[in-house]
This record gives sequence, C-alpha cells and structure tokens, in this order.
Amino acid sequence: MNLAIIGAQWGDEGKGKIVDLLAPHFDVVTRYQGGHNAGHTVIIRRGGVDQKFVLHLIPSGITHPGKTCVIGNGVVVDPQALLNEVDSLRAQGIEVNHRNLLISNRAHLILPYHVALDRAIEAGRGGAAVGTTMRGIGPAYEDKMARRGLRAGDLTDPATLTEKLSHNAKQANRLIAMLGGDLINEKQLIEDGHRWSQLVAPHICDTTYFLNNAARGGKSLLLEGAQATMLDIDHGTYPFVTSSNSSIGGAITGTGLPPSQINCAIGVIKAYTTRVGGGPFPTELNDAMGEHIRARGGEYGASTGRPRRTGWFDAVVARYAVMINGLDALALTKLDVLDDLDEIKICVAYRIGGRETDQIPYDANQMSEAEPVYETIPGWKEKTVGVSRFEDLPEKARNYIARLAELSSAPFAFISTGAERNETIIETEVLSGCGIRLAV
Ligand code: IMP
Repeated sequence: MNLAIIGAQWGDEGKGKIVDLLAPHFDVVTRYQGGHNAGHTVIIRRGGVDQKFVLHLIPSGITHPGKTCVIGNGVVVDPQALLNEVDSLRAQGIEVNHRNLLISNRAHLILPYHVALDRAIEAGRGGAAVGTTMRGIGPAYEDKMARRGLRAGDLTDPATLTEKLSHNAKQANRLIAMLGGDLINEKQLIEDGHRWSQLVAPHICDTTYFLNNAARGGKSLLLEGAQATMLDIDHGTYPFVTSSNSSIGGAITGTGLPPSQINCAIGVIKAYTTRVGGGPFPTELNDAMGEHIRARGGEYGASTGRPRRTGWFDAVVARYAVMINGLDALALTKLDVLDDLDEIKICVAYRIGGRETDQIPYDANQMSEAEPVYETIPGWKEKTVGVSRFEDLPEKARNYIARLAELSSAPFAFISTGAERNETIIETEVLSGCGIRLAV
C-alpha cells in the first residue's frame, strides 16, 4: 500500500504533521520534488518534553527509528544544506546514517551559483518578483532542464568532479556578471565539492531500483510532497509558482515509480488559506481578520520566517486540487485557529469580469482580478484544541467541516486540532476506504 501526501493549497498546510502521523505505518518515506525551500515542522514528545523538528530536505519520517528515508531523483539537493540538516538532527538525538537516509544518484545538485542566480534574477524582476525562498531552487531546475546540471551521482566520482564544477562555475559566473549578481569563487566551490563528496557519497545510490524493489517486495511507501498544487510549475498560479511538479505527477517522475504503484493520494488543506511570496490569492484578507488569523495560527514561514499572507478557505482551490491530484481524501489542519470567530467565510466561486466561475483561470492576471463569492457560516466560539473524536467537536464546527467536504468533493480522513500527534481526529472509515488501516 503506497500513499502520496500532497499540499492542496499554496503550501504550509501542515503536511509534516500528517506524514509524521502516518510514518510509523509505512516502511519507507520518500520526498520526490522540491528542495530545502520546504519547511515541515513536526512536534514530538520525547522523554516527557515537546521537541520541535523543522525539516527542509530530509523526509519527515527520519524522526521514526527503523524507517528508510529517501530523497528521490526529482528533488534538488543543496549538499551543504543537507549536511547542516543532518548535523542539527543528530544534535537533537536523531540517528541519521547511510542506511536510513538514501539519496538518488539522479537528484540534481543546488550549488552556490544557483543561489547567486536566484538572488540576481529576483532582484531583476522588481515589482513582479516571485518572492522565492532564495535557496537556488529555480536555477537548479533550469540547469536540469537545460541538461547542464550536476547530479548527486557526480559527487561519487571525484576524478571528474573538479572538471565539471570548474566548467559550470565559469559558465554561471558569466551569467551572474550579466545580471549584476555576486560572482562565486571557483576554487572554493571545488574545495567544497570534494568535501561534500566525502560526506554525502555514502548516502547516494540508485533509489529508483530501491523504491521499485521495495514496492514489488511488499514494502509500503509514503510519498511526501513538498510545496503544493497551487505552486505546481504546470498547474499552479504561473509564474508565481515553484519550479517543480508539486502535484501528483511529481510523485511519478520524481521517484521512478509507475502510477500503478501509487494506490492512494491524500491532500492536506488548512481550515483557512495562506500563501508566502508573490502572486494572486483571491480570498486574501488584508485587514484585522487576516492579522488575527496570522497571529493565532503562527503563520510565519518555517524556512524564511516571512509572515504568511492569510485568507478564508477557498473551495475553488480545494476542488481543483482534488481534481488535479485525484485525491481520495483530505486532511484538514489548524481547525482550532478559527475557534473564536463570530462568522467564518468560505469562497464557493469567483467572479471574474462580471462572470461567475467555479474554475481556476489559467492566467495569473485573471486570477488576481477574481472576486470571491462567499458563503458565511456562524462560528462555533468554543475551544477545539486537542479534540480527538469528531463527535466531541461543537456542532457548528462539524457543520463547517461537512460543508468543506461537500464543496471540495472529498471526505476528510484527518482533522488536526493542534500541533501534537494526538491532537488529531482520525476518520478510520474514510482511511479504510482508501485502503489504509492504521493500528490506532
Ligand atoms: P522557490 O521554490 O524558492 O523558487 O519559490 C517559489 C515560490 O514558491 C515562492 O512564492 C515561495 O514563497 C513558494 N514556496 C516555495 N516553497 C514553499 C513552501 O514550502 N511553502 C510555501 N511556499 C513555498
């Protein structure tokens, strides 16, 4: 049984928590796209104390002993960021070694010149900046598509590494100079490259065969998406997107698994909406309510610390995510953030150029003109923090959830009512409808 977890909005939906909840029930946890632009926060109670882990590149499953974590071929890997993350996990008492962390030899590398290019390109965009995380993600994927990138496998061949790094550094510096960015030091890059080679090489292998053999051998795989459907390079609000397929397609191309091996997909969605960076956001609240949600929800980027933009739940987005990814079910997060509101709005359609539509327009300009058509429902004005049974939720909260499910056309398998693992309602019937049986 192999399951994909996918962001159904613009990211930061709380995928880390859902993956963390599911990880004990799977043998292998794999990332398939994106890089350390992601920020998956997991709170775990260890030895009676809450410990917070913020994972950027390594699958959230790493905090569970006995699981194999894989960084698939579709991920872009910054070797220094990877080593920093391994160090910080070890400092928090998590075992990371070449048996529980495997990196695809086909995964492309993010190198310092990609970061310099990301900065220079964003600066050149002025007011139309994408608001990237400045981690070099876009330029690394550009090099991949232009067939000039270095891959993790290149780190296992020190004999040719110097030549490849030297060639790419010279080419990149020409481009950086044209864009008025900060040139990178070629000698330093080559030195760093060989250091990374020694430290990272033990983790590098052919994960395509590893994952397929595991699946064929009856092991269960959890595929951990990063970013989200609306940030997908093809299906998101282009050009205000990330540079990978963060919807279901990425789970195929980014692992080498065939579609028939992905048995179920669950989308993670907040009870409201957030977005970081630029780009259209129809239900955005630029008022006291938006600030209230940001403050109560702690809506600040896990990777960059940037305040997140906040807004009401957008059912047009939810339905689109269900359609694009073929989501079997949803996981609703952060319900408790809405606990003290008198009224809650749900966007059920858009009005664009005087016409009502229930579809996402292809064009970001049209999307930014979209006026939300709202349905208003009464708030429940009661604490839901920590509730772990659906029937214990206030009736109005249950009604809100039922309406979201109806509008999204997918049932909720999880409802998260707090950051901790046990602050979750698990709908076992919905899960077993997806073929998942959790021993809870
Ligand atoms: P990049 O992925 O750094 O190139 O950034 C492209 C866009 O995706 C920007 O708007 C970022 O804010 C957004 N983005 C990238 N990663 C995440 C994430 O993990 N959560 C939310 N937004 C993200």
